[in-house]
Amino acid sequence: FPLPPQPTFPALQANVGFALLALVGTLLIVPKVGPAFIEKGIRGRDLLKPGGRTSGPWIPECLGLPCASLYLLLMMLFIPFPFSHIFQVAGNNGVGREKFPIRELTFYLTSLLSLFTATMLGFIDDLFDIRWRHKLPIPLIAAVPTLLVYYATGGWTWVVLPESVGKLLCSLGLPGWTGAPVVNLHVFYYVYLVLLPTFTTNSINILAGINGVEVIQPLIIAMSVTLNDLFFLPIWPEWLLALLGVENPASGRMLPWAVGQVVTRHLMSLYFMIPLIGVCAGFLWHNWYPARAFPGDTLCYFTGMAFSAVAIQGHFSKTMLLFFLPQIFNFLLSSPQLFRLVPCPRHRLPHFNEATGLLEPSKAVFERAPPLLGRIILEAFQILGLTRLERAPPPADSKSGEKTPSDSWPQDGDLISATNLTLLNVLLVRLGPMREPTLCLLVGAGQVAGSAVAFAIRYGVGSLVYGG
Ligand code: UD1
Ligand code: MG
Repeated sequence: FPLPPQPTFPALQANVGFALLALVGTLLIVPKVGPAFIEKGIRGRDLLKPGGRTSGPWIPECLGLPCASLYLLLMMLFIPFPFSHIFQVAGNNGVGREKFPIRELTFYLTSLLSLFTATMLGFIDDLFDIRWRHKLPIPLIAAVPTLLVYYATGGWTWVVLPESVGKLLCSLGLPGWTGAPVVNLHVFYYVYLVLLPTFTTNSINILAGINGVEVIQPLIIAMSVTLNDLFFLPIWPEWLLALLGVENPASGRMLPWAVGQVVTRHLMSLYFMIPLIGVCAGFLWHNWYPARAFPGDTLCYFTGMAFSAVAIQGHFSKTMLLFFLPQIFNFLLSSPQLFRLVPCPRHRLPHFNEATGLLEPSKAVFERAPPLLGRIILEAFQILGLTRLERAPPPADSKSGEKTPSDSWPQDGDLISATNLTLLNVLLVRLGPMREPTLCLLVGAGQVAGSAVAFAIRYGVGSLVYGG
């Protein structure tokens, strides 16, 4: 029993309508619920404003919660739209119901489940500041339903290698090597997929601390994913297709790589991304300098999980990682502090100079010598211009000939502080002090530039390398 073609555009138009509701809803709800959050003690002081640490006004924290709630409610209301063509066929007698695309519905529902888990984790973290060792396993567990759906819908575990690597492996004559430039990673691919939500959720949360920065990142990533999804829809003008050498463009108006299941997967991703843009844009309005609301970990975890859910289910996790280039850089840079090779203060956000009103790099001040590996990494980072180190001056009594005891610390020349290892501090070390909104715009510009590089890799070099 044939089903009519899927009504791509009505559902997409409805989705854009839901995104507008998300935008307007966020703009209206955030200032309304803010005072209730302050009253309940869910609040924080803006550390980068005059008197911020002690006497500044309270700002409501964790306003990612109403944003995530609104988004989830709208996404629930949207569920019937992508399947509306089935209802037309099913009519009164239920004919065609057995052809219901359960696969897409499952995709949709498990993504919502992951988003709920992430929102709950973020909210708990905002309330109780839970420890890393407790919060790291939760996104791993939240990924299980998504991975099962991934397995059930094909479970692709192959990685496509560049042709040159394939040839090299072939020439080595490895046993069992067929010569095709693909390798099956089997269970390791699932390990990578399990780690993806942990990375996407936490990496946004640790590139934080100045007004606007926690929400400008997901806003630009969601826009980049949306553009990438549009590359898979039949909407492209004939002249562009002719330019790309697509044969018979009138029939599909598709770009060359948009074939089969890939189109449906990107359509599903689009349904999640467009309303996310609405929520992030609405919240950015309130979080922009000077912030009237803080997103809290809730917004970071919820947006991060949205990205990994669509990337895993849409089979484009490698492309998604390319949109996280600034976060990957910030994570690698932060890892010596995250893994305690270098001391890590509770807050690594930049330092506010009250006299100039500008932000400067903040420092991790050492109370004892960091481990040797930490010191080597710091010296290397200093050579690369990623941190500024401070050394102990010669002891005041060195002229008098008296020697300081050899076991005391710090000795002359020992490292006593380093600027905190974050992208924000690196920008301040390299470019000098600047205003808070300027730094946020710079991070946004870096995110846009990262996406441009991502598109160049994916559709330039990577079109030879990537499978999907
Ligand atoms: C992460 C960072 C931490 C950074 C913090 C800032 C790591 C490992 N953790 O911690 O270094 O200091 O985010 O969000 O990198 N705040 C501002 N201005 C802002 C945003 C936040 O002053 O624009 C302050 C407020 O006091 C707010 C607090 O940061 O209450 C929120 O911090 P929280 O999100 O709980 O910190 P973490 O995510 O644990
Ligand atoms: Mg946070």
